[in-house]
Amino acid sequence: MSEAMGGSVAERVVAWQMASGRNHLPWQQTRDPYRVWLSEIMLQQTQVSTVLDYYARFLARFPDVAALAAAPQDEVMGLWSGLGYYTRARNLHRCAQQVVSEHGGAFPRSAEVLATLPGIGRSTAGAIAAFCFSQRVPILDANVRRVLTRLLGFDADLASARNEKVLWEHAQALLPVHDLENAMPRYTQGLMDLGATVCVPRAPRCELCPLNHSCVAFKKGDPERYPVKTRKLSRRSESWQLLVLRNPQGQVWLQRRPGTGIWAGMHCVPIFEDSASLHRCMETLPSASGLSVQELQPFVHVLTHRDLHLHPVLVTGVAAAQPTEDGEWLGAGQWSSIGLPAPIRKLLDTTQASLW
Ligand code: ADE
Repeated sequence: MSEAMGGSVAERVVAWQMASGRNHLPWQQTRDPYRVWLSEIMLQQTQVSTVLDYYARFLARFPDVAALAAAPQDEVMGLWSGLGYYTRARNLHRCAQQVVSEHGGAFPRSAEVLATLPGIGRSTAGAIAAFCFSQRVPILDANVRRVLTRLLGFDADLASARNEKVLWEHAQALLPVHDLENAMPRYTQGLMDLGATVCVPRAPRCELCPLNHSCVAFKKGDPERYPVKTRKLSRRSESWQLLVLRNPQGQVWLQRRPGTGIWAGMHCVPIFEDSASLHRCMETLPSASGLSVQELQPFVHVLTHRDLHLHPVLVTGVAAAQPTEDGEWLGAGQWSSIGLPAPIRKLLDTTQASLW
């Protein structure tokens, strides 16, 4: 034991993890890199309680990387629907395909190679390599960044890539040095657990922390000051008109979104950026006995960098097999198996319910 209060930082994190960390999450009961990778991608921007159901459903449908790689993209997007940040789902699918086509169906064991795969950044690569292969590599996700900047009193601005790099070097230097087979997964999970349950952003529970006696921020009494990052998210607001075209069979006209931007690659009702272009489109729609146009309740959908103000308009009475250049008529039975953004799915379900 090299320091007061029971050993090095790494040793204390490992001991604390065993006694007080989270040890019963489903992805902790395995060292299968497919399962660990899937959980880490889901957990990147989504909390544990939400991930649990999605994780189980994904594994039931895609038990291994080959099954996921072979699946149609729509099915992957459909299963992901509701988790948000859909770039993750597309990258997940592409990553599975690359593991199969370029790595013989086995995930690479080194963090460096893992980080070359779609959707796997340096921290996720570190987590997979530490959890599954006990590789001695650091992680630095938002929770761990908070733990380490407080511990070290690291107050350089993390908006700068150079400062971020220095923090990675500190993270490397703090890694366990003994019994790596057991210590690396424990330590990695321990830092995540500390950040999620003790070293939380507001009102951290420092009295419970195994590192409090070494923690610079605790000694100074200002843990909430860390991490320091100056660049603020610039939020924008946008207003979209949604054209909900319904045919007499109750099907809705759905188009595939472009490959980049919001809801890329998912199915969606036609979107217009202003009501003039929506009305121009409606004027081109053929109708046997007049269109029925009904403005539905507008609502706001919040994305990371944007507030979307959505204005749906329900149009029935269209007499066209092909109302716009691209798209297809899809009925309620098909909505659940394709990738629909969650707010659009909800909108369609609500409009459908009002039919009966
Ligand atoms: N967040 C990211 N990875 C995690 C993990 N392995 N357990 C709990 N929360 C996490």
